[in-house]
Amino acid sequence: MSEPSARGALSPVIRLNHQPIAVFDSGLGGLTVLHALRGRLPHEDFFYFADTRFLPYGDRPESFLRERGVAIAHALAARGSKALVVACNTATAAAAEAIRAATHIPVVALEPGVKPAVALTRSGVVGVLATTRTLESERFRRLVAEHGNGRRVLAQPCPGLAEAIENDGAESAQAAALLDDYVAPLAAAGADVVVLGCTHYPWVAEAIARRMPPGTTLLDTGEAVARQLERLLAAGNLLGGSGRLSVATSGAPAAVAATVDRLWGRHLPVDHWEP
Ligand code: DGL
Repeated sequence: MSEPSARGALSPVIRLNHQPIAVFDSGLGGLTVLHALRGRLPHEDFFYFADTRFLPYGDRPESFLRERGVAIAHALAARGSKALVVACNTATAAAAEAIRAATHIPVVALEPGVKPAVALTRSGVVGVLATTRTLESERFRRLVAEHGNGRRVLAQPCPGLAEAIENDGAESAQAAALLDDYVAPLAAAGADVVVLGCTHYPWVAEAIARRMPPGTTLLDTGEAVARQLERLLAAGNLLGGSGRLSVATSGAPAAVAATVDRLWGRHLPVDHWEP
């Protein structure tokens, strides 16, 4: 039996390593995760997909999110992604298992950081800000049952907040009014740790901190996701790239590009892409 040539043996590995990592969210909240991913893995190539046409995911039925998540994962794998990051707590809550079952590429999904929050709290009260869909999910119920450790986990749904951040701006009056309503119950209950259980909320982290007593810890999962992705890529011998980033949306590219520029802090071209 003849040995494969060095070229024949190596080229598939090289090709795969230089495929981008796909990252998706309902909109631009996942850019907060992408920021952490690029910080940890600056040499990787990323393709970011904002499913803006269906924003917000947080008010949609679980069955819709499962179907949509699987369709997106299929399309991202088919366009040659070497790994997939579900940068959306709501999509994870509804569809993580279905997405993993539907694709052959490594998948990293994220969920609210209840476990680290419970380990950190001194007051015994942890607040979780997330979408209605995330907080009503079976997955979130299990997370609290398994890791709540007898602490009070105060789940605060935030309808409208992701859209306000994206459509009106993180500093807008609309976002501020919603934050007043959603953060006050956590402060009143004595929470000393607040979990940012939606990837849009790190954009308003300072505004949340201002509404909580000094010393409150805000927990975001971007760094943990980046470490997990690095582990998976290393284990699969998939590390490698040249630091490229491209962005696409199922919505209107010009409008999304304007929001990307505002949130990301520099201009990034945005294409239209439909899974
Ligand atoms: N960014 C998404 C999350 O992490 C949800 C925003 C939305 O409702 O679409 O849950």
